[in-house]
Amino acid sequence: MAMVSVEPGRPHRSVNLWELGGSMTDHATRLHQSKMGTARRIVAQLRGAPPDWAPNPMINAATVYTDPARHALERRKIFRETPLVACLSSDLPEPGSYRTFDEAGVPVVIVRGKGGELKGFLNVCRHRGARLVRDAQGKASRFSCWFHAWTFSSDGALVGVPQREGFEACAKERNLVPVPVAERHGLVFVKCSPNSTMDIDAFLGDFAPELAMLELGKAQFVKSELLPVAANWKYALDTYGEGYHFASLHRQTLAPYRHAEVQVYDRWGPHHRITWAAHAMSEWMKQPEQEWDADTLIGWVHFIFPNTILYTGSVKPGKGYYTTFRHFPGEAVGETITYKSIYAPFGAPSAEQRADIEAAFAATAHVVRTEDYIVAAEGWRSLASVHEDGATVIYGRQEVALQHQHRAIAAILDCAPPREVVDGMAAE
Ligand code: FES
Ligand SMILES: [Fe+2]
Repeated sequence: MAMVSVEPGRPHRSVNLWELGGSMTDHATRLHQSKMGTARRIVAQLRGAPPDWAPNPMINAATVYTDPARHALERRKIFRETPLVACLSSDLPEPGSYRTFDEAGVPVVIVRGKGGELKGFLNVCRHRGARLVRDAQGKASRFSCWFHAWTFSSDGALVGVPQREGFEACAKERNLVPVPVAERHGLVFVKCSPNSTMDIDAFLGDFAPELAMLELGKAQFVKSELLPVAANWKYALDTYGEGYHFASLHRQTLAPYRHAEVQVYDRWGPHHRITWAAHAMSEWMKQPEQEWDADTLIGWVHFIFPNTILYTGSVKPGKGYYTTFRHFPGEAVGETITYKSIYAPFGAPSAEQRADIEAAFAATAHVVRTEDYIVAAEGWRSLASVHEDGATVIYGRQEVALQHQHRAIAAILDCAPPREVVDGMAAE
């Protein structure tokens, strides 16, 4: 995967966040300091410190990508029983705003109630199961089924039944079925298990402050698209987690701007974040810290377990963007759709900023479509054709993020994790 961070050919100048909007919020201060922390680690590596690699390679069975039974287990345990990012808070901007969420294979509608709180329901009419909300998004105070016109309020109560006398007392028990939703740090999470609970704070754990400082609540939607790929969802996800392929697969598209030998990596429970150095950062070795334009050049790739990538990039100083890549499996083990959206970080963008963001959006999509997802489809097909022969894949020390995410996925499923290879021997 390629993250196009900085417009090629544009000169950069150091930008101090204080210049951008008067006094800094606590979050903005922390964001600046945290980016400077990443910048210092990059400079240390440029000066010879070792990159953030894993201690050893790991080996994994090819069947984790190709076995239909494993796929069915993942669809249930990961995509129905784990919190998933549905959208950003600003995608549900006001009371009555709603969005449907079908990505995980369960029809859900998320609604912002009168008091601003979010609620989630199965998007299934309680009469005979018709799809209740048929527009992908909009604003409404009630939802009326197009089949026989049963009507539900935005808090899920059944409030209208034509010819009610035909249903006697049984209509009383037919409110919409709730699913858990939660809003944290500008992100909307959903768990596609009806009548269950979701402890989102426990799920995010120590990762929460890393998300909070991004102030995603201020981000404004600019554009979205779907990127389908004929590969298992984990094979697609893996292409975002290692820079080892930049110099070969992205030789002409990404390698001229960013190299992977310098890599900063952190993890918080199942979540993690990786940063690769831009070539322009080599100049930092000769400059005092005040000259580093870390706010622009540091492009963080956050992995929000299990399937969402949040990239914080900039097209030029002070003109950042956030991109979400949410990967969802199809019904078959070799089908994935990536839902990609891009946002302006601090409110509605100017026409110029929108054009810059759309250019970054198009550049990334081109690289994903013509490079990452071609190699993913071919690679997955290869594994699917040989998996019965005990085929394996290896995650190198530099592919530390892949090691971590496959261990985290295996832990949720209670399946065998990838095995560490020590002195050439795979641990049992
Ligand atoms: S199925 Fe919705 S009103 Fe009949
Ligand atoms: Fe890539």
